Parts: sequence; C-alpha cells; structure tokens
Amino acid sequence: MTQMEQDPARKGIVLAGGSGTRLYPITHSLSKQLLPLFDKPMIYYPLSVLMLAGLREVAIITTPEDQEQFRRLLKDGAQWGMTFDYLVQERPEGLAQAYLLAEDYLAGAASTMVLGDNIFFGHDLPVLLKAAAARPEGGTVFGYQVADPERYGVVAFDRSGKVLSIEEKPAQPKSDFAVTGIYVLDGSAPERARRIRPSARGELEITDLLNSYLAEGRLTVERMGRGYAWLDTGTHASLLDAGNFVRTIEERQNLKIGCPEEIAHGLGWISTDELRALAAPYLKTEYGRYLARIADLS
Ligand code: DAU
Repeated sequence: MTQMEQDPARKGIVLAGGSGTRLYPITHSLSKQLLPLFDKPMIYYPLSVLMLAGLREVAIITTPEDQEQFRRLLKDGAQWGMTFDYLVQERPEGLAQAYLLAEDYLAGAASTMVLGDNIFFGHDLPVLLKAAAARPEGGTVFGYQVADPERYGVVAFDRSGKVLSIEEKPAQPKSDFAVTGIYVLDGSAPERARRIRPSARGELEITDLLNSYLAEGRLTVERMGRGYAWLDTGTHASLLDAGNFVRTIEERQNLKIGCPEEIAHGLGWISTDELRALAAPYLKTEYGRYLARIADLS
C-alpha cells in the first residue's frame, strides 16, 4: 500500500466520554464534546480529522447518559457515507480503557483514536496521519510544543531526536513537547491495554500504553510543527479562544474548519445531490448556505 492510499482495515475511534468537571456548570447536563465550537459541535472537529485520514468506520465512545444525544446528532454515519458504532464507557477510568471497550469492534484491526475535545488545524494533517497509518506496526503519536507541558503527556527526546520517555503530567517536564490527542496504533493496542494497571489517580493511562510500545522500540513520535494549531478546550477561556480562532480563519477564508459534510463530499463519499439534501434543513444558517454553495459550485 502506498502512503497516500486509504487504509481499509484501520478503524477510527473518537473518545468522547469523561465527566467534563472542568467546564462546570456548562457540562453538568451536556457532554463537553457536544458543546459549540463557534458554528458546529465540538465532536465535528475530531471526526473530521479521522475523515481526512480516510477512515470511514468510526466508533464513538460516550458516557451512558450522553449516548442518545450523540446518536441524535451523528446517526449511523450513512448521511456522510460513513459507519458509526456507539460504545459506552461506564465511568471515566482512563483513555487507555478505550482500547478495552473497542476490542471487539476493532477485531484485531489497527486504529486511529482522536480525543473528542482535541481541535487540530493544519495544511498537511492528512499527509501526517496517512504516513503514520502506513507504518505496518507499532504506534505513532505527535509531539507539539506548548507553553504549559505539565498539563499533558510529555515526551523527552535525546540530542539525536530519539524518544527517551513519555510522562503523564510531570511536575518537572523534561521538554516542552506535549503528546497530542491523536493515537495511531497497530492492532496490538487492546492486548497491551489489558496488561496495564490503574495509576495512582485510578486511571488506565494512555502514557502507560504508549510506554509499552516505547519499551519495544515500536513508538514513533512525530513532531507536529509550529505551522499547525492544536487548540485547548479545557477551560472556559480556552474554549472561547478556540471558537474565536475557528471564526477568525473561517471568516477570513470563507472556508470551514472541521465540516464533515464538505469533507465527505470532497472525498466522494456522498454525491452533490446528497450534499444539497444535507444543506436543505440548515439554510437559515451560514453553515447550511455554505454547504449549498459547495454543491452549487461542483
Ligand atoms: O489532550 C492531550 C492529553 O490528553 C494528553 O497529552 C495526555 O497524555 C492525556 O492523558 C490526556 O490528558 P487530559 O488531562 O487532557 O485528559 P482528560 O482527562 O481531560 O481527558 C481527555 C478527553 O478524554 C476528555 O474529552 C474526556 C475524555 N475522557 C477522559 C477520560 C479520563 C474519556 O472519554 N474517558 C476517560 O476515561
């Protein structure tokens, strides 16, 4: 398979559970990943990342209470030429638990998981993701320079760029490179997740899963350069900032970030008539008129 071809076996996962306590009271009765980020629900952005990577089969992991609302929004995926499966995480027991929950769904397939509250923007993102997916085995994550690495998983490199360690929220970070919420892993991820134990805070840590790859020399950390935006949505202020970022770029370019209908149409997963039909109920909004304009131009 060449680098740019689609990867039929690989499946996507969006992890959209969690308690959202850092955004209370907003998330008291509404899932964080359904909150608006300017003109669309937050989950559209990570879903778009998976679509741009060529993945049409995606599992969406939610809390039991929130699943119905996600289903109402995203349905079975067919409207975008995709297939969605919904999985439940009973309690927020860690990011690595996603691989236990998705084990049957994956049935041995490789996967690309994106955290449901991670927002990415950058010209070559599909190339970066497809290159990672083209590695036949092991795992790939992306390191991104941030001002506050202690809030994230942190990767340390030696002088030659070799990865030395990955630590979860270290008090004394060994670098400024945070591990972003995109995990491109081979089919061994569920089996590895089964071998890890809960951390001191009671979670199955994604960093422990990544370290099991690292210990075998099977982890690649790609640097996601400064030309990309990886935006935080973890606080009220950063949520607003991320929304303003999207608005600024979208209004400047008259192009949308994270618009699944547009991506599905661009990839040939839905026809122009299907796109027009999706736009029809939204025509009172700029979002709907945007979709209609794409249909008219094609
Ligand atoms: O955003 C990247 C960071 O995500 C990584 O650098 C860290 O290594 C990784 O642990 C994670 O850190 P966070 O502190 O951001 O994780 P948080 O608990 O906020 O969870 C991230 C998202 O995943 C959030 O939308 C909620 C969801 N989640 C979280 C947990 C713990 C679940 O769906 N289930 C869970 O069990």
